[in-house]
Formats: sequence, structure tokens, C-alpha cells
Amino acid sequence: MIRIRRAICEQLPHLKNACHALEVPAKNQVLQNARRPTLEWILPSAVAQQERELLEMVKEHRFDDTYVEKVRVVPSAARRAAKIEFQLQPQIFVEQLLQTKLSTSKPYPSPTEHILVEYSSPNIAKPFHVGHLRSTIIGNVLANLHQHLGYRTTRLNYLGDWGTQFGLLALGVILENVTDEEMQVSPIEVLYKSYVAANKAAEESPEIAKRARDLFAALEAGTDETMAKQWQQYRKYTIEDLSKVYKRLGVHFDSYEWESQYSQMQILDILDKLRHAGLLQPEQDGREIVVIDGRRIPIIKSDGSTLYLARDIAALLERLSRFQFSRLLYVVDNGQADHFNALFKTAVAVESRLNLDQLQHVKFGRIHGMSTRQGKAIFLKDVLDEARDIMREKRNFTATTKKNQTLDDENVCDILGISAVLVNVLKQRRQRDHEFSWMQALQVNGDTGIKLQYTHCRLSSLLDNFREVDLDGIKPNWMHFAEEPEDALDLVYELARFDQSIWRSKEQLEACVLVNYLFVLCNTTSRALKRLPVKHEKCLQRQSQRLLLFHAAKKTLQQGMQLLGLRPLDQM
Ligand code: ARG
Repeated sequence: MIRIRRAICEQLPHLKNACHALEVPAKNQVLQNARRPTLEWILPSAVAQQERELLEMVKEHRFDDTYVEKVRVVPSAARRAAKIEFQLQPQIFVEQLLQTKLSTSKPYPSPTEHILVEYSSPNIAKPFHVGHLRSTIIGNVLANLHQHLGYRTTRLNYLGDWGTQFGLLALGVILENVTDEEMQVSPIEVLYKSYVAANKAAEESPEIAKRARDLFAALEAGTDETMAKQWQQYRKYTIEDLSKVYKRLGVHFDSYEWESQYSQMQILDILDKLRHAGLLQPEQDGREIVVIDGRRIPIIKSDGSTLYLARDIAALLERLSRFQFSRLLYVVDNGQADHFNALFKTAVAVESRLNLDQLQHVKFGRIHGMSTRQGKAIFLKDVLDEARDIMREKRNFTATTKKNQTLDDENVCDILGISAVLVNVLKQRRQRDHEFSWMQALQVNGDTGIKLQYTHCRLSSLLDNFREVDLDGIKPNWMHFAEEPEDALDLVYELARFDQSIWRSKEQLEACVLVNYLFVLCNTTSRALKRLPVKHEKCLQRQSQRLLLFHAAKKTLQQGMQLLGLRPLDQM
């Protein structure tokens, strides 16, 4: 596929110059689901203006017809962009596609952009809630997609540990007499408990509420050294604790950053610039606010302590100097849309090297109903444990498969449970609110993570039965595919659409594009597994070509699953 694309580009140098989009892998490339392999390149509007010229060029150009049987320019029509259609020679197409799928070489050239993806970003005073789960898994997929396509990608986790509520948290730790040992064992739960206790106490006594505020002001001013040291310890324990959940989810970060790391000094400097740009307004009560699109957003409190927005501006500017990023994606729920609008506009106003298209709030809606069967889900760990337990119950109940001694059942149940939760969340368009249901998430036959794992296991076990066959020694052979039932070519076409689904998923920042592709791939694979039996096939040649096809299908499914953050199982 890649070679075909390259060949077309080489044979059309003028076109390549006219339309640099052709160099971008898989962009705008649509493989038609006809019996004839056809590639479409939708022309970007800038190029489409040269439509007539392109048409002439394509007409004049003689293609090497080993690759391309026919080329035509389809002019733009009402609401349809112009495109070039390449009808490909089926033999070369099928053989090269399979060859590419089976090879291990890196298919994409590296773009020069550096992409930062900020995701997960929980607060240490509150439990890791479902919104953070959605951010964590969507962010992870977006980072994976960029990395896979060759972008330099940096993954950030921006943890909330600052602001007035942290005065409460700090006070709670004192009120609850939390020891260092307790904190070390389960910091997230202990911090939460302390926070709840302090909140309750503050509600009952204005005295305590004031103590909390003073404590935060002291923390921020840096005058309480013991407290500052302790704060660092809590953060360390929290990261260690979170890392366990992240590991279970197959998620990682290049850098953990904290709201508290942006000092008042940095922020004062930013405030000066904002004042200079006429964006800052003092309020009578001593607060300072920025006015963005007619909305008044506080940035500094009357006692001089900083607010969320102020710290976010400082963090953004610091990231620009540190990473010189091309784009920064913030994967954060819909509820913070105003905040990010204000953040981007103020940051651009004070930093001339920055412009708005570099910054994007990747929003998502709410998930309702994700809790355990006892109606409890405070911690993400509870949700993952519940998923594992339900999987274990289901497996014990339907223990039709032979007990396999080598299988680590606990681990398999955990992976299956996590796959179910992840895919159920990822298959939704992210902006939509979503009702979570265990029943739906865990079906084998529905569009679920279990289906992906199940299909992967079927392919693995088939290939395992033929492990003595040297697949590397077999060349894909078109003659064979031409004689096969249609299902064989259907599967080849489906494999050919993988690149495109990844590209679109990344362009739209929607994991569901890839997820839906993988569902279709699984369905096509199941049909092919039924119609193209391997074991009972007498003709050795046919058998090995079928194996090759299923091997390519397995590799593609595996790659897709890994991009979603799943760990593909070989047995379940
Ligand atoms: N910690 C915040 C919260 O839980 C989310 C942080 C999002 N990222 C940011 N740069 N503001 O609400």
C-alpha cells in the first residue's frame, strides 16, 4: 500500500508539489469497497481551485500500469470536494498490502510537529472520578495515535494539589492525626477521608474554615516549611498510588506536573503583562478578574492567593518554553469549556509566540451510572475490581472452555474487565453524555471490548495450531485470492482501511473511529474464519495463503487494540 502510494507520488511529481497533502500518509485516502481496489484522494480546497490544471495533468500523464489501471479527476460538485480516483491493479494491490501488513518496518514518515497531550489530571483532594477516567483513556488513545503516526509526542498529567480546598485538605490531615505510615499505604483514600472530615468541620465552624484559608495562604506564601515538605511527601505517595491504577489501565505519562509548581512570582509577572494588555480589572473587594468574551473570570483572590486560571496560564507558558510544542491538547470535560476559552485567549494575549490554533480543549461529556453493583464507586479501583469480578463470575458460570492450567485466570479476568470498560467508553463520540451499563459492556456478541479480545484469541489459537509453518517464507499470491470465496477479498479490503481509520481518528480526535473500524474488522474476520477453513483444507497452498491472511488480520487487530490501550490476549 505504502509502495503504491509512493509510486503514485513519484509518477506525479507536479501533482505532489501542487498538493502536499498527497505526501501525508493515509490522509484523505478512501478505499472503495468495490470489487476493484480504488484509492480516492479528496483534494483540499486550496488545490481544488487548480482543478482544471490537475485534470489536464492527470490526462497527460502516463501511468506505469503495473500499479494503476485508471486515473480520473472527479471535479467538485455541490457540497462534494474534488477528488482524484486511482483504480489499482488488484494483483499488486493485494500482494503488496499483505506484504506490508506482515512486515515490521515503520510505515509512516515522521512529521516534524511536537504534540503535547495533557490528560487524566485528577485532584488529590478528591477521588479519581469517572470524568478523570474518561480523560485518562481518551487522552491515552490520542497520544498513542499521534505517536504511532510518527509525531513527537509528550504525555502530561497535571495534578490538582493547589487552591483553597487544599487548605482544607491540609487541615483535615492535621485534624485526623494522619500518620506518615497511613499516608504511605493508601494516600488517595486517606487524603479523601481527611478532606471530607475537614469539609464537615468547616461547615460547622467558621473558625475552622478560616484556619483552612490561612493554612493555604501560608502554604502558597511558602512560609510554613514543614507543611511544604509534607506536601511534597503526599504528592510522592499519590503518584505511587496512581501509578498502580495507570499500570492496570496500560496508561503512562512522560511527566507529572502539579498545580502547585507554578509559583506566585511567575504568576505576578503574568498579571503584570495582563494588566499591560488591558485585560485585568480590579474588583472592589480586592479580587482581580479577566474579562473574556464579556465574561468576568476571577484570577486572583482578595488575599492575593492565585486561582485555577492563573496557575493554568503560568503552566501553559512554562510548557511553551520547555517543550516548544506545535500543539497542546487538553483532554478535559465539557464543564470546563469557559475556563479553557479564557485560558487560551489570555495566554495568547500575553505571549506573542503562541497562537490559538496551537491550543485545543478536547472536550467530552459525562458518563452516568458507572458504579459497582452496591451502588458505590468512589475510586476508580472499585470500578476496575468490579469489572474483574463480574468477568470472573461469568467465566465460572460458562466454563465451557477446557480448564487451561497455564492460564493466569485472575490476570485474564482483569484484562477482560478493563477491556470491557475501556471500549465501552471509547466507542462513544466523546462529546456525548453516556449511560454506562455492565450488561452492555460485557457482551461477547455485541460491540464490546470482549468481542475484540475474543476475535484476537480465535486468531491466536488458529495460528498457534500451525506454529510449525514458516509464515515468513510464504509470499502472498494473488492467483489464490482470485479463486477464493469473496470473504477473502473482503478481509483484505478491510485490512487496507486500517491506516485510514487511524488517520481519521487522529484528525477528528475521536477514538470511536478506530473502535468502530475494529468492530467491523472483527465481524469480517469472523465471517472469513467460517468461510475459509484452514485446518480441513487439503490444498497446502491454499491453506498457507489463508494462514497468511489471518496472520495479517491478527497483526492489524493487535495493533489497533494496542492503540486503544488494550492488552490483546491469546487465550481467554
Ligand atoms: N484537576 C482538574 C480537575 O479535576 C483538571 C485539570 C485539567 N487541566 C488543566 N490544565 N486545567 O478538575
